[in-house]
Amino acid sequence: MKKILILCGSGRRHGNSEKLADAFIKGAAFHNGITKMTLADKKIAPCRNCNYCQEHHGECAIRDDMQEIIIALQNNDILVLCSPVYYLGFSAQLKAVIDRTYAESAIGRKIQSAILLSVAAKKEAFVSDCMRNAYRQLCDYLGFQNLGMISAQGFENPNDIENSSILIDGFELGKSIF
Ligand SMILES: Cc1cc2nc3c(=O)[nH]c(=O)nc-3n(C[C@H](O)[C@H](O)[C@H](O)COP(=O)(O)O)c2cc1C
Repeated sequence: MKKILILCGSGRRHGNSEKLADAFIKGAAFHNGITKMTLADKKIAPCRNCNYCQEHHGECAIRDDMQEIIIALQNNDILVLCSPVYYLGFSAQLKAVIDRTYAESAIGRKIQSAILLSVAAKKEAFVSDCMRNAYRQLCDYLGFQNLGMISAQGFENPNDIENSSILIDGFELGKSIF
């Protein structure tokens, strides 16, 4: 059975995007191969493009929490990118992880497919378009199959998403994966 890694990219714990991730997990409840990691708890520096990883079989020159994420990426098949929209893109926390997976390009990526769960405060369509485009382009660039996208809008404060039907969408997407 395929294993799923969920990276929650919010800077705050238990906010809207993490609640959406939790709804997804509930939907996939019968499946025990799900790992959730919250980046608010991790220290992950940005990539320095020093190329050390390319000359050292994927080992990164920076010593921080990225090592455990690389191990998780190597042990899973499906990656769920869960992010609040920060200035029309992924959060810096999640973008730092994406950039640091450059180290994996030296050893080969295990992830084959991805899912987007994003949450924004504003309701204008272009906000969602930016996230969906960034995600789709990333999937194309890294050769991931897109298994689904939820780009929720209109949720600002950490509990705003509670009781919203978008959590049902998250649940259904989780249920649909297997
Ligand atoms: C630094 C920062 C930038 C943001 N930029 C946007 C934005 O460009 N568009 C938008 O609709 N919401 C933006 N927001 C609002 C968040 O996306 C929104 O509050 C979201 O629900 C946060 O998800 P979370 O509770 O999982 O952290 C921004 C919030 C922060 C802190």
